[in-house]
Amino acid sequence: MDAVLLPKSWNVDQIIHDLDQQGFSLIDEAYPPAYMHRLVEECTSNLNKFRDAAIQNGVVSKIRSDHILWINEQLEIASQHVHQLEELAKQLNRAFYSGIRNVEAHFACYNSGEFYALHRDNPHNKNGRVFSAVYYLHEQWQSDWGGELHLQDKNDQWHILQPKPNRIALFQSDLLHEVLKAKHQRLSITAWLRSDSDII
Ligand code: OGA
Ligand code: MN
Repeated sequence: MDAVLLPKSWNVDQIIHDLDQQGFSLIDEAYPPAYMHRLVEECTSNLNKFRDAAIQNGVVSKIRSDHILWINEQLEIASQHVHQLEELAKQLNRAFYSGIRNVEAHFACYNSGEFYALHRDNPHNKNGRVFSAVYYLHEQWQSDWGGELHLQDKNDQWHILQPKPNRIALFQSDLLHEVLKAKHQRLSITAWLRSDSDII
């Protein structure tokens, strides 16, 4: 793959520092507005393909009510974001020896009333997820619209993080977190930086 440069707003030293101290980091104004608009357009024009995230292999779960669409190379705009995360992963590997080899990602849409109850993305180290990276891509978000990411950091402190447009919330996949009930349509890309599967 050609060399991919990270956007200037991704301050890798700061990200590494935050992850080391707290287990999570926020990247604000992650992308130039023009790219974000193209991403919103790609997401919203595919909303008819999103599937109920609660149903996996025919089994219905009550802990989440959002809708998702897995990202592959056909979703060209979102794939660029995945490639940026692969580039970030190389730097995190250097800092933490985290052995990330692969990034998987899906779009997620929470309609009004939808939520994701308390969970860990990698409970008991049962999968290869090392870090979770959630990028918020709705065009605007108001602080009374709910949908916050409620996250317990590695020092057991709880944080309420707003799903601000153009923000990436990056956190250790073993941390406890939930998505509070949204009152407006909330769009995102959830990605996992994984130490298993294909080499990046
Ligand atoms: C998830 C998740 C958090 C968010 O998709 O596993 O916890 O803020 N998402 O969307
Ligand atoms: Mn999660």
